Amino acid sequence: MKVFVCCLFIIANISNNGKASLESFAPSGTNILFEDTTKNLDKVSCYRPCKFNVKPKRCHYNFKVEPTIQEDGRPAITINGMTPGPPIQACVNDIIVVEVQNNILDQDISIHWHGIEQKGTPYMDGVPMVTQCPIGYGQTFKYAFVATSPGTFFYHADSVSHQSDGVYGPLIINQPQPLEHHSSLYDYDRSAENTLTIGAKFPELLTAKLEDVSKLKPDALIINGDGDVSKIVVMAGFAYRLRFINAIATECPVIVTIEKHEMVVIATDGKPTKPVLARNVELHPGERMDAVVRASEEGGGYWVRVHGTGACTGLGANAMLIYSGFNYTAMLAENQNEYKQESFASDLVVSGQMLESLQDQSHASEVKSVYLGIDRNTVQVKEADLDFRYISDAIPKKPFFPAAFALHENGVVQINKKSFLYPNVPILLRPRDVRQDMYCKVGEEETQVEAQCIQVLDAIEGEVLEIALVNEGFGSNDSYTFHMHGYNMQVISTWQNPKDKPISKEDFQKLSKDGKISRNLQNPPVKDTITVPNKGYTIVRIKIDRGGTWLLECRSCALSSVPAAIMIRVPETIPKAVVDSLPKCGNYRPPDVLLN
Ligand SMILES: *[C@@H]1O[C@H](CO)[C@@H](O)[C@H](O)[C@H]1NC(C)=O
Ligand SMILES: *[C@@H]1O[C@H](CO)[C@@H](O)[C@H](O)[C@H]1NC(C)=O
Repeated sequence: MKVFVCCLFIIANISNNGKASLESFAPSGTNILFEDTTKNLDKVSCYRPCKFNVKPKRCHYNFKVEPTIQEDGRPAITINGMTPGPPIQACVNDIIVVEVQNNILDQDISIHWHGIEQKGTPYMDGVPMVTQCPIGYGQTFKYAFVATSPGTFFYHADSVSHQSDGVYGPLIINQPQPLEHHSSLYDYDRSAENTLTIGAKFPELLTAKLEDVSKLKPDALIINGDGDVSKIVVMAGFAYRLRFINAIATECPVIVTIEKHEMVVIATDGKPTKPVLARNVELHPGERMDAVVRASEEGGGYWVRVHGTGACTGLGANAMLIYSGFNYTAMLAENQNEYKQESFASDLVVSGQMLESLQDQSHASEVKSVYLGIDRNTVQVKEADLDFRYISDAIPKKPFFPAAFALHENGVVQINKKSFLYPNVPILLRPRDVRQDMYCKVGEEETQVEAQCIQVLDAIEGEVLEIALVNEGFGSNDSYTFHMHGYNMQVISTWQNPKDKPISKEDFQKLSKDGKISRNLQNPPVKDTITVPNKGYTIVRIKIDRGGTWLLECRSCALSSVPAAIMIRVPETIPKAVVDSLPKCGNYRPPDVLLN
C-alpha cells in the first residue's frame, strides 16, 4: 500500500476571529494538498491525490442491489447491504466501471449517474427503455464511463421509488488541486470524509406496495445512512471543503446549518460559483452544494443540522463538527433528530439558483424557445388504458415497479398535458424499432390523442434551447424539481407570482410580449438540477453540443405516478458494435440458485 505523506505544512496568518465576512476565508497559507488517507483506500478504490500527467485509473465496483432488513428492523433496498451504497471517488479522466447486479425479485432497475455528462457514452446514462434495457432480476449490467468533469455528483436508481427505498450513493470526481477554482479558500478537501449524503426513510418499502403511495411521506432524515452520527473532524484555524448532496427523491428540500459557524458556498451541482457567505445552505432533491467551513472556534463540538422542508417538514438529522481532541461522548447523548425552530436562524439562506457561475453567457446568440407547461391534471382515462410499466417487446407487460397512481383522486403532474411513455425498445439503441404512434412532439402534443406519449424535443448540435418551465399551478400548490440528464443548464430566470395566482400559457406569452420577463445572462448559475416554484417559472438555456437521448425530468413528480419528462433528442448513431455488446431486453435469466 502506498503512503501519501502530506506536503508543505506552512501555516500563516490564520484569522480566527472575523466571522460574518468573506475576508475571514482568505487563504491561511499554502494549501496542504493531501494528507495520509491510505486508511480509506480499501473502501474507495480510486481515492487518491489527483496529479497531472499520470495515467488515469480504472475504478471498478461491483454493486449487488437487493432488499435487506436494516438494523432498525426496516426493510430497504441496498447496494452490497448498504444504503447509501459505496462512495465512488475518482480523479478526472479515470474510467469508472460499475457492474450492477439486480437481485430484486420481479423488479427491473437501472442506475443513473446524476450530473455525469456521459461524453461519448450516452448509452450509459441509465434510463430504462431510453438509453438501455432495464436490468431484470438476476441480470448484471456493466456501466463504464469516463469521469470527464470534476465535482460533487451522486448516483441513484432511475426509478424514484427504488431511490427512495435506498438505492443511491455519492460520486465525487476530484482533480489536481491547482485546478480547483477556490482551492485558496480552504486547507483541506477530504472528499471521502467530509461529504454528507442526505437521504430520507419511508415507513415502508415503496416498491413493495401495490396501491397508491403518493400520500406516503418520509418519517426520518438520515445523513450518510443509519450508522453512527457522521463526524467532520477539524483543527482550529483551518478551513475545510464540505460537500452536501440531497439524495432524496421526493419533494424534500433540506437546509443545512452548522452551529456557530458560517459557510462559504463555492460550487453547486459540481460547478464552481462565485463564493457566497451562508449561514444556511438550501438543497432541493438532487442538488449538490460545496461549501467551505473555517474552524473559527477554539475547540469543542458543534451540530451540523439538516432540517427538512416540503414533504419532510418537521424532520431533521444531525452530523457533528468536532474539533480535534474534543470528547464528544456527552454531546452524542443529547442528539435530537427533530428540527427545533430555536436552533435555526433563518438568515443568510443560500440556494443554488441564486448563485452566480464563473461563466458569462451574455454573448449567447439565437435561441430556440420552448414552452413547458407543468401542472397536476385529472386525466379522463380508465386506469387500464394507461401503462405505467415499461413495455418491451422482449418482456411482455412486465411490471417495472409495482405502484399504481392516484389518477382519479389527485390527478398526475404532466408536461403540456401529457405523461411520458417509455418506448417499446431502448430508443437510443434501436430508434427505428420505436412504434411511431407512441410519439408526440413538444409543442404539438395536441395531435396525439393518448394521455401518455414519448414526448420528444428534437434538437441539433450547435443549437441553444431556451426552455421555459412554467409551473402553472391550477391543479396544485407544489414546487417541482427537474433534472437534466447529460447536460448543464444556465438558469437565466426564476420567478414566482407574488399574487399567488396560477399562470396560463397565454399569461406567460403576454408577459413575454410585454417584455416583463427578465433574463440574467451575466454569470447565470449553471446547474443540472433546478426547482420550478409554485405558480412561477424557471427559464433555462441549454447549448446542444452532443448527440443522445436525454431526459429533462421532474424527479419529485413521479412518486407512484406516470413520469413527467420530455426527451431531448440530438441525432446520434451508436456504433453497431456497441449496440451488439449491450444486453438485450430480458434475454438472460440465470437460475435462482446462482443468485445466492
Ligand atoms: C469522555 O467523556 C465521558 C463522559 O462525558 C467519559 O466517561 C469518558 O471517560 C471521557 N473520555 C475520555 C477519553 O476522556
Ligand atoms: C392551493 O392553495 C389555495 C389557497 O391557499 C387553495 O384554495 C387551493 O385549494 C389549493 N389547491 C390545491 C390543489 O391544493
